[in-house]
Amino acid sequence: MTKITAAITAVGGYVPQFVLTNKMLEDMVDTNDEWITSRTGIKERRVLKKEEGEGTSYLAIKAANDLIEKRNLDPTEIDLVIVATATPDSTVASTAAFVASEIGAKNAFAYDLLAACSSFLFGMSTVASYIESGRYKKVLLIGADKMSSILDYTDRTTCIIFGDGAGAALFEPNTEGLGLQDEYLRADGSGRQFLGMEGGGSIMPATVESVNNKKHYIFQEGKTVFKFAVSNMAQAAERIMEQNNLISSDVTWLVPHQANKRIIDATANRMGVDHSRVMMNIQRYGNTTSGTLPLLLYDYEKQLKKGDNLVFAAFGGGFTWGSIYLKWAY
Ligand code: UT7
Repeated sequence: MTKITAAITAVGGYVPQFVLTNKMLEDMVDTNDEWITSRTGIKERRVLKKEEGEGTSYLAIKAANDLIEKRNLDPTEIDLVIVATATPDSTVASTAAFVASEIGAKNAFAYDLLAACSSFLFGMSTVASYIESGRYKKVLLIGADKMSSILDYTDRTTCIIFGDGAGAALFEPNTEGLGLQDEYLRADGSGRQFLGMEGGGSIMPATVESVNNKKHYIFQEGKTVFKFAVSNMAQAAERIMEQNNLISSDVTWLVPHQANKRIIDATANRMGVDHSRVMMNIQRYGNTTSGTLPLLLYDYEKQLKKGDNLVFAAFGGGFTWGSIYLKWAY
């Protein structure tokens, strides 16, 4: 019997219109363009303003519709919609269910997947299992986050890093051996003390006190997270190469989570991959959390060729991290 693999057959993307530059942040917090650029690689990021649209679902729907139009896809053929996100529209009701309905995927079931900045990476693994088993044929994975909804724009340690955005990828069965080849995924729950949001969940529901104490904003112990991110992302990328006997020249593209240019550079160096083969858009979007990996595919789609070897790597809150090896299918 021919082996079925899960291939990406179309991508879409969307970032909101409002551009928040480093210069603008200089007027909001005690920071400067030079510090942000040299420490993170970010020049500007996008913010979803109320006048344009509301909620993560707005971004997810835009990215999905972009894919549907480009590919001329009939949305009623979609079997499953997964929205990878750390900022769902609200708790309890599934954001993905709303997105599926809005894009016309009326024959699909839908759910959210939360693994912070690794959400899209872990989602790829989930989707691949559904496709490889033969159970479903068209699965839409959307990575979307409205990070501005949990940012304190008076806290210079976090508000300069994150941005809003979404990307989408369609996965379908492939019998040529293309698509997802292998994965190395990990989690370490002790990391939640260093990166997360204390308020709004089941441990600390919203109270006047939690709001006054700014517990509904993301917090990060930057230096500690940086150390974990550098070592774990690079190690995961190296590991997936070893598992698949890949040498540096076999890797056509490194597709790294866009948290910090210095983390991306360290990962590329450890893999021996030249910077011309590293996808990067952090300078324009900042860290869009679940949106980074699909937005890279969206931006670099025209440069990709059938058979290209892509190594994805990510690190995020939880902690969660890992790498995936995928052969591009078109
Ligand atoms: O995507 C999920 C995973 N997240 C990550 O991977 C993020 C990992 N962490 C990082 O990317 C970096 O740690 C940051 C970009 C968040 C911070 O960079 P850093 O080089 O680790 O800076 P730091 O936190 O050690 O701060 C250095 C100095 C401090 O001042 P002192 O104590 O040396 O006087 C900070 O107060 O820079 C100061 N600082 C700033 N200065 C200007 C912190 N934020 C800013 C700022 N502008 N925005």
